[in-house]
Amino acid sequence: MSREIIAIDGPAAAGKTTVGRRLAARLGWRFLDTGLVYRALTWLAHQHGVPADDTPGLLRLVPLLDLRAGAPHEAKSATTVWIGGQEVTDALRDPAIDADVSLVARQPAIRAALIALQRRAVGDGPAVVAGRDIGTVIFPDARLKIYLDASPEERARRRAAELASRGASASLEAERAAILRRDALDSQRTAAPLTVAPDAVRIVTDGLTAEQVVERIQTLWAQRQSTSTGRAGATGQ
Ligand code: CDP
Repeated sequence: MSREIIAIDGPAAAGKTTVGRRLAARLGWRFLDTGLVYRALTWLAHQHGVPADDTPGLLRLVPLLDLRAGAPHEAKSATTVWIGGQEVTDALRDPAIDADVSLVARQPAIRAALIALQRRAVGDGPAVVAGRDIGTVIFPDARLKIYLDASPEERARRRAAELASRGASASLEAERAAILRRDALDSQRTAAPLTVAPDAVRIVTDGLTAEQVVERIQTLWAQRQSTSTGRAGATGQ
């Protein structure tokens, strides 16, 4: 039996969070951005002076993490993240976190330690869940799996605009390089690498607005609902 979950996986800055959040708000579902789990652990590591490749040190920080999927009424805005009484929402999107997060996330023991936390954060669903391994590892039984993609140029433009909107300085070239570095680390790692699940629908978002992507996914969900009984997932666009 598939679960009432829409999994959105894809490379860095492909729009998973923006699209996932809007989609969840429309459907009245919960939304979880699992990237925040890895970002929060990386932030904690920086605070505690734990190097990004120190697996035992990182594992000791895991119990400090507490996350839950945002309720539908919260889904429209960014998830506010608190760690130990401190609001860290913007800090988690900092280039310093971008630089280390994939080094943290590539470690098999770390990923294993975070699986239960992510499933617990989602609860019984229904939910939209965004990440890298949602359709392959965390919720392989998700009823609809989307792989959101976009060219590196488009993704660098989006990330630079996002940073600029928060008053941070960003050069297109630096963002493009940072994104490509993370893509390489995320795709080449042995533990749950970024990959297109065989039953995922790939959507290339160059030239599409977030709203158009949300609509496309909603249409796919409606089709999936009407044909879900006993049918394996469709592939292709
Ligand atoms: O928002 P953006 O696509 O740039 O990144 P993110 O979703 O916040 O994820 C940050 C990093 O966490 C990724 O580059 C991965 O290294 C890691 N990650 C992961 O390994 N598995 C997930 N399910 C989500 C994120």
